[in-house]
Amino acid sequence: MTTQVPSGIESSSATASVRMSWRAILFAPIGDDQRRRRGSDAVRLILASLAVLCAVLVLRSNSHPEDVIAHVLSPPPYGIRWLVTLIWIGEISSATEAPIDRSLLVAFVELVQSGPSGRVADIGCGPGRVAALLARSGLDAVGVDVSEGMLAAARKAHPRIPFEKGGLAALPFESEVLAGAVCWYSIIYTPPERLGEAFRELERVLVPGGHVLLGFQAGSCEPIRRQAAHGTNLPLTNYLHNPSGVAALLEEVGFTIFAQVVRAADLEHETSPQGFVIASRPVE
Ligand SMILES: C[S@@+](CC[C@H](N)C(=O)[O-])C[C@H]1O[C@@H](n2cnc3c(N)ncnc32)[C@H](O)[C@@H]1O
Repeated sequence: MTTQVPSGIESSSATASVRMSWRAILFAPIGDDQRRRRGSDAVRLILASLAVLCAVLVLRSNSHPEDVIAHVLSPPPYGIRWLVTLIWIGEISSATEAPIDRSLLVAFVELVQSGPSGRVADIGCGPGRVAALLARSGLDAVGVDVSEGMLAAARKAHPRIPFEKGGLAALPFESEVLAGAVCWYSIIYTPPERLGEAFRELERVLVPGGHVLLGFQAGSCEPIRRQAAHGTNLPLTNYLHNPSGVAALLEEVGFTIFAQVVRAADLEHETSPQGFVIASRPVE
């Protein structure tokens, strides 16, 4: 006669043996070898996490990988401040620029790459976001700004890129040396009646066949006056330039218009349409 063992008993004894083997694994005394192995696994995990972090930051920032690694490893508070700036303010990315804006920057880079050689300037560079994108695209980038504070921030964020002091109406370059120039939201403080002066200066420094890209808030030349700009007590006026007027003025000083784009306000902080013009200095 055979005795049937209820299936519940079988499975509960199997569970107990599994539980025991886990206990055995967890609480078994470990030797020096195992401890060393666990230690080196932890070191490997930390190094791999750092590598992933660096890769993510390189992709987000358009910076040279060496710059990112130098910044990540630099002592606090600088490295930490840089990380916070990068994560919260960002470089040129989908978080800061609309798709059309980024595609125009890419188009500009390709135009410059297919044209005459020379340096490419980010004029009114601020913290150097566009200069970083140009450098990452393989161009010989240089940043220019009137503000010492902005230049200091740009040099800190992108130590491999040269940044020079200068204004739109007096650029720190010899004549006919630049293959390209980007004025990304830097003509917005120039009154419409002073734009011609800035465009003549751009024409002077560009080589024949060189290109310029302008980005700005678009409107009908109306000034926007603020009493406390960017959280300071400083009054600041910027202008909503007329895209057709900007293009006409560029033609007046000798440029050929390659593209003129106006897009609707799209990003959270935008209250007006945005205008973009790509123009070229003709080859004589
Ligand atoms: C709105 S910020 C844009 C900064 C940068 N292009 C970007 O997109 O991040 C304008 C910058 O233009 C600079 N700027 C304003 N007027 C300028 C001028 N006449 N010549 C050169 N830079 C100027 C300011 O100092 C500031 O850094």
